Amino acid sequence: MTELTNRHWVLSRTPDGPLSPDVFAWGEAPVAPPGPGQVLVRNRMLSIDPAQRAWMKGRTYREQVMPGDVMHAFGLGEVVASQSPGFVAGDLVEGMLGWQDYAVAPAGELTKRDSSQSLDHLIGVLSITGLTAYHGLFDVAQVRAGDTVLVSAAAGAVGTVAGQIAKIAGCRVVGVAGGEEKCRWLVEALGYDAAVDYKAGDLRRQIRAACPDGVDVYFDNVGGEVLDAALLSMNQRGRIACCGAVSGYDDAAPPKGSPMIPGLLISKRISMSGFIVLDYLAGREIAERRLAGWIAEGRLKPVVDVDDGLESAPNALIKLLAGRNRGKAAVRIG
Ligand SMILES: NC(=O)c1ccc[n+]([C@@H]2O[C@H](COP(=O)([O-])OP(=O)(O)OC[C@H]3O[C@@H](n4cnc5c(N)ncnc54)[C@H](OP(=O)(O)O)[C@@H]3O)[C@@H](O)[C@H]2O)c1
Repeated sequence: MTELTNRHWVLSRTPDGPLSPDVFAWGEAPVAPPGPGQVLVRNRMLSIDPAQRAWMKGRTYREQVMPGDVMHAFGLGEVVASQSPGFVAGDLVEGMLGWQDYAVAPAGELTKRDSSQSLDHLIGVLSITGLTAYHGLFDVAQVRAGDTVLVSAAAGAVGTVAGQIAKIAGCRVVGVAGGEEKCRWLVEALGYDAAVDYKAGDLRRQIRAACPDGVDVYFDNVGGEVLDAALLSMNQRGRIACCGAVSGYDDAAPPKGSPMIPGLLISKRISMSGFIVLDYLAGREIAERRLAGWIAEGRLKPVVDVDDGLESAPNALIKLLAGRNRGKAAVRIG
C-alpha cells in the first residue's frame, strides 16, 4: 500500500462555553494499515451533530471526547483495505469514523450500505437522523392519525423528517424554529400546518394559538424554555418524546429544570420518555424501507446542508449550534 496521509481534527481542550474554532487543532499523520479484524476506510461524508458538543462535556450514552482525541463523528466512507472477511475494497460503510480523511475501525463497528443510494440520503434520512425521527414518533410517542404533533428544532435534521412523517401519518403538525424565515419555509416548503418562532417572544401564547386543540405529541429536540412552553399546551394523556436537549449543549451551566415537572405530568397524565435511536437499530430495515418509499413517492423531502472539505468541520458544527442550518448538516470530503 502506498503511504497515505491522514488529515484530521483533534479536540485540543474541553470547551467551557460556546464552541469556538480554537478548541480544535488540525494535524496530519501517516495512515496506519489495518490490523487483524480491522478495516481501513476513506471517509466520504461526515455527520455534523449537536450531540458532538454534548460528547465534549462528559460521559453521555457514549464516552466523552477527550483532549487529544480525533473528534468523534458518525460518517460514511469507502473501504480501502480490509483484514476482515466481511468487507472488501470498494464497499460503502457507515460507522464512527471521526473528523479525518481515513479511519481504521474494527469490522464489527461498521455497517455496509447500498452504494447505489445517494450519500446525501445515506448520511441523514436513511440513517441515524431518519431513524431517530421514525422511532421517536411511532415507537416512543405512539403517534396516531388525528394527533396534533408539535416538533422543536423543526427545521433541523431530525425535525424536518419528524414533521414530514407525522404529516404522512395523518397528524396536524406544528413546528418550532428560530426566525420568521425558517418558520415560513416549514409551512411553504415542507407542508407543516403552522410554525412558531421561539425567538419572537411569548412562546406559550404562540403555541396555544398555533395548537387551538392542544398538543397530543411533543417531539422535543431542544428541552429548556421551549419544553416549558410546550408543557402548558399538552392535552390529557399527551406523550412527549425526549429526543434531545440542544438548548443546553453549548452552555457551561446545566439548563434549569422545569417547575411544571412533575406536577403537570401528574395532573394531565402525560408520559415523557427519553430514547436513544441505537436501541431501535434491530428494526432499522423496516423503518428504512418505509422512509425510502416515502422519498420515492415524493411525500418526504430529504433536506441536507452540506459543507465541502474536512477543513470546514469545526465551523459546520458552530453553525449548527447557532441554528444556521436547514436539515441534515454534513461535511463532504474529496
Ligand atoms: N435520541 C437520539 O437517539 C438522537 C439521535 C439524533 C439526534 N438527537 C437529538 O436531536 C436533536 C436534533 O438534532 P439534529 O441532528 O436534528 O440537529 P439540528 O436540529 O439539525 O440542529 C440543531 C438545531 O437546534 C436548534 N437550536 C439551537 N439552539 C437552540 C435553542 N437554544 N433553543 C431551541 N433550538 C435551538 C437550531 O435551530 P433553530 O434555528 O430553530 O434555533 C439548530 O438548527 C438534538 O438535540 C440531538 O441531540 C437525538
